[in-house]
Amino acid sequence: METTMREAVERLWPEIEWIEDPDLREQVTQTWIKALERSPLDPDDLLEIPFTLLVPDCPSSFMQHKRCVVHIARPSALAMQEFLGDALAIDLDTVIAGAILADVGKLLEYEKVHGEVRQSDRGKSLRHPFTGVALALECGVPDEVCHIIAAHAAEGDLVKRSTEAYIVHHADFMSFLPFKNLPR
Ligand SMILES: [Fe+2]
Repeated sequence: METTMREAVERLWPEIEWIEDPDLREQVTQTWIKALERSPLDPDDLLEIPFTLLVPDCPSSFMQHKRCVVHIARPSALAMQEFLGDALAIDLDTVIAGAILADVGKLLEYEKVHGEVRQSDRGKSLRHPFTGVALALECGVPDEVCHIIAAHAAEGDLVKRSTEAYIVHHADFMSFLPFKNLPR
């Protein structure tokens, strides 16, 4: 059965529904649709390919990891709002949208050759924080969310991160770094 890219995005990302602002929800959806349209990967590949090429034979899939990051980031932001909210303004929609979009650029960084995922020539020139921001800006995603995409990974260590970007960065890294230490 043929499915539209919108349906594919809704299937991959039920968490988009967590975004309260309908405009932001649509911008996030459009960014993922555009990424899938331009990617050599198809939606089902994301259920199987490793989430990173920085861990040899990484045993967790792209979607397992990406959804885990969103599921860590949202309750983290809520806990910080509850206990630190008087001192620190945190926008929940920005955290959720940023976490959902942080790695959207990997759809333009990776390619599949003979069943093996590898970094494409474009990916070598422009890692996913850069291609992710380009895609998101095209779809009208606000700057504070693009900031999270730009600053979520190691490149962002040179950036003065927003509170929301710190939350997504740590959610991402706490579910990435342990894989680098797995015994093999
Ligand atoms: Fe990333």
